[in-house]
Amino acid sequence: MSTHASSSLRTIDVALGTRGYPVWIGPGLITDTARWRAMLRGRHALVISNTTVAPLYLERVADGLDGLQWSPFLIDDGEAHKTFANVGRALEALAQLGATRDACVVALGGGVVGDLAGFSAACWMRGIDFIQMPTTLLSMVDSSVGGKTGVNLPAGKNLVGAFHQPRAVVADIDTLATLPEREYRAGLAEVVKGAAIGDAAFFAWLEQRAAALNARETAPLIEAIARKVQYKAGVVARDETEQGERALLNLGHTFGHALETAGKYTVLLHGEGVAIGMLLAAKLSERLGMSDAGDTGRLHRLLETLRLPTAIPAGMDPAQLLALMRLDKKNLAGTLRLILWRGVGRAEIVSGVGEADVMAVLEAATR
Ligand SMILES: NC(=O)c1ccc[n+]([C@@H]2O[C@H](COP(=O)([O-])OP(=O)(O)OC[C@H]3O[C@@H](n4cnc5c(N)ncnc54)[C@H](O)[C@@H]3O)[C@@H](O)[C@H]2O)c1
Repeated sequence: MSTHASSSLRTIDVALGTRGYPVWIGPGLITDTARWRAMLRGRHALVISNTTVAPLYLERVADGLDGLQWSPFLIDDGEAHKTFANVGRALEALAQLGATRDACVVALGGGVVGDLAGFSAACWMRGIDFIQMPTTLLSMVDSSVGGKTGVNLPAGKNLVGAFHQPRAVVADIDTLATLPEREYRAGLAEVVKGAAIGDAAFFAWLEQRAAALNARETAPLIEAIARKVQYKAGVVARDETEQGERALLNLGHTFGHALETAGKYTVLLHGEGVAIGMLLAAKLSERLGMSDAGDTGRLHRLLETLRLPTAIPAGMDPAQLLALMRLDKKNLAGTLRLILWRGVGRAEIVSGVGEADVMAVLEAATR
C-alpha cells in the first residue's frame, strides 16, 4: 500500500495484486472524467444510483460517459431498498443494455447503492468491473473500500453477498456539501472507529482536529478520510476475506447492530449505533480489566465533541439487547465473541465473553 499527494488529491492504493485498485480522495473528482473513464474497459456502463443522489450528481457522471452505451438505474432511497428484487432489476437493465463481459457498473451514492451495485456487478456474467463513486462520508471511509457487497433479506441485514473488489474508488468530497448533518456525523463515527481499533496517532490527531471536522473544513476532512481509508486498505490487503484481522473492523458492531435492530432501523443510523457500540465495548473492556478508565474517557469525549450519541436510547431493554447480541454472525457455538480493546488503537477479538458482564454494562448504560 502506498500514498502520494498532488495538491489536494490523495491516492491510496489497495494492494491486492492484480485486483488492487486506487482510492482517489479530493475535490472535483467526478468531473475529472479522464481519470476514472480510463478505468472502463468496454463500451457499456450501467450507473446505479438512487432518487436522492441522481438529481444532484448523475449529470456530472454522464459527462464522463459520452460516446459509450450506458443507462442509469435508480432505486428508491433507503436501506429497505437494498434487496434481491432490485438486484434482479439491475441485472435486467444490464441485459437491456446488451452489456458484455467488459461492461462496467458505476455506483453513485452511499453505502446502500454501493453494496447493491457491487453485488449486481459480481453477479452479471459471474463478475464484471465496477467503480465506486461514494457520496456519503460513511461510504467514502468504509463501505466503498474492501469489496464487501450484498443485500438484505427479510431475515436480516447483509445476509447475502459476495466479495467483489471495485476497479477504482472515486471519493469526490464536493458531494459532501449536500450531505445532511446527521449522515455526516454517522460517517465521522466510522472514522473514529478506524483510529480506535488500530491507530493511536490518528486518534490523537482526531482529538486535535475535531472542531475543524465539525466545520467540514476541506483539508482536515481529506486527511481524515485518507487516514481511515489507508488503515482499512492495509487490513483488507492482509485479510481480504475476514479470516482474522479484518474482524477487528467490527469494533462496536455487535452492540451497535443490537441497538439498530431494537430501534427497528428508524431510531439510529448505522454510524450512530457504532458510536454507542464502541463506547459500550470500551466500558466492557474496562470492566474485564483489559483497559483503563482513561481510554474509555477519551473515546467518550471525542464522540461527544463530534456530536455523536453515546447513550443507549431511552426505552431500550438491556435483556432484549443481549438477546439480539446472541444472534451476531461473529458468535461461535453459543458463546459471545466480541471485538474489545486494550485501550486506544489496540482492539482485539475476545471469545467466550460472559453474558453477566455484558448485561452489567448494558444495565449501567440504560440507567
Ligand atoms: N460493504 C461494506 O463494507 C459496508 C460497510 C459499512 C456499511 N455498509 C452498508 O452501507 C449502508 C449505509 O451506507 P450510508 O450510511 O452511506 O447510507 P445510505 O446509502 O442510505 O445514504 C444515507 C442517506 O444519504 C443520502 N445521500 C447520499 N449521498 C448524498 C449526498 N451527497 N447528498 C445528499 N444526500 C445524500 C442517501 O440518499 C441516503 O438517504 C448500509 O446498507 C450498510 O450495511 C457496507
